[in-house]
Amino acid sequence: MSGAALGLLVAAGAGERLGVGVAKAFVEVAGQPLLAHAARALASAERIDALVVVVAGEDVERAGKALAEAGVQVRAVVQGGVERHESVARGLEALGADDSVVAVHDAARPLATSALVSRTVGALVDPWAAVAPALPVVDTLKLADDAGRVIRTVDRRGVWAVQTPQVFPVDVLRSAHARIDARGLTDDLALVERAGGRVRLVEGEHTNVKVTYPDDLELVAALLAARAGGQR
Ligand code: C5P
Repeated sequence: MSGAALGLLVAAGAGERLGVGVAKAFVEVAGQPLLAHAARALASAERIDALVVVVAGEDVERAGKALAEAGVQVRAVVQGGVERHESVARGLEALGADDSVVAVHDAARPLATSALVSRTVGALVDPWAAVAPALPVVDTLKLADDAGRVIRTVDRRGVWAVQTPQVFPVDVLRSAHARIDARGLTDDLALVERAGGRVRLVEGEHTNVKVTYPDDLELVAALLAARAGGQR
């Protein structure tokens, strides 16, 4: 189905769990904001045609500048919404009639490799309505209450931790956003699943980490340094 895709980078989250007082997308690692690292990661993939970037309203201009400084070309920078799904929906509105496939990527994942992006886009073939990278969960899983009291152990067999980019035919994702109540859903695959679409996982990358807590920034910095030194 897909030769190439439009990359839709969502970067409009506040990133409160990071606790650094700066919007997560603008936190700098190795001299550049996460936004620029993630945009470059997406744009450098052979199967990505162009980028649309979604940021908070007050950051549209700043994002455009940061991306230009980082040498990443984008088709548009648009304003996001309060929830992630609203930001994705706003980004979808900015897509053109020629865009048939979209790869939605979190700016919070600055280390996705171009190989992963292209492999994920390339896996979107009939009859799949969505493809995303994922890894089997390796930790033992417990269900517990708010006080930390364990209720039971959860069987981890067949449980996967899902990453981005998540790749869809544009019409499938648009129609899922229009039809399904996205409240409480944390990714776009869930919307397509609820809409009845067939969703496929491909192998993710251990280094495609999601920056959520301050320690994650150190990890990303170390991985970037290792890449710059040719180790990864
Ligand atoms: O908050 P969390 O880290 O789960 O967000 C995942 C991604 O979704 C981030 O890249 C964030 O910037 C983006 N997001 C967004 N609009 C929101 C909330 C999150 O674009 N309202």
